[in-house]
Amino acid sequence: MKKTSSFLQMKQKGEKIAMMTAYDAPSASLVEKAGIDMILVGDSLGMVVLGYDSTIPVTLEDMILHTKAVKRGAKDTFVVADLPFLTYHASLSQTFESAKAMMQQAGADAVKVEGAAGVVESIRQLTNAGVPVMGHLGLTPQSVGVLGGYKVQGKDEESAAQLLKDAKALEHAGAFALVIECVPEQVGKVISEQLNIPVIGIGAGVHTDGQVLVYHDAIGYGEAHVPKFVKRYASVSDPIVTGVETYVKEVKQSQFPTKEHSFFTKETPLSLYGG
Ligand code: KIV
Ligand code: NA
Repeated sequence: MKKTSSFLQMKQKGEKIAMMTAYDAPSASLVEKAGIDMILVGDSLGMVVLGYDSTIPVTLEDMILHTKAVKRGAKDTFVVADLPFLTYHASLSQTFESAKAMMQQAGADAVKVEGAAGVVESIRQLTNAGVPVMGHLGLTPQSVGVLGGYKVQGKDEESAAQLLKDAKALEHAGAFALVIECVPEQVGKVISEQLNIPVIGIGAGVHTDGQVLVYHDAIGYGEAHVPKFVKRYASVSDPIVTGVETYVKEVKQSQFPTKEHSFFTKETPLSLYGG
């Protein structure tokens, strides 16, 4: 299994890091089979799996359940798990309890936290305590209420400079890697060049050290809205609907099950009921 130092080496060698989310055992096992470098159990599961319209309602219990399933499905892949909304801000001890649950109970190999100002000290303390932490800057969905929507970040000189400053602060605090979401390609490039740790982009252009996408978005599974930065590599919803439509039709017309999918006994049926 790759570890945090493997990702640093990949950056140093110019080898791109391919990351994808997974939320359950089958998705984890399929992305592992496909050769993914790192799995993210994202709190995006709130939208793509649980049917909420943001990541805000996702709880630590949700994350633990799904991270456990992912670990069972992908035993040989480094798994990062999101700390959900307001589970790492109230106090350092709350942050430690949340990280402990994700690492010990759920089995995550690292945790991810959003933002800069409020979390730099937590990243320092967690790292000192032996918890690998991934940062997340740019569009940070847990702050969507404050950001005022899902918009491209760092478009002007001032906000881009702030992003770079924040990224450096996270690196300095000990983050082993960073996700940067929804920023101009130029900003993704500068931040990746200026940092020693790997920068994983999503909607941040081609120059970052790696890319991450949401599993359901990338394979076209489900009906969630898909942002501009997503490329659809498959469209699995269509064959699922077609398959289930055929099943419904065959049930209605008594075409399923045939003898091939049925069991038989040598007894006379009524004797089974003592008749
Ligand atoms: O929750 C998630 O899937 C994420 C990625 C979009 C980086 O945080
Ligand atoms: Na997330």
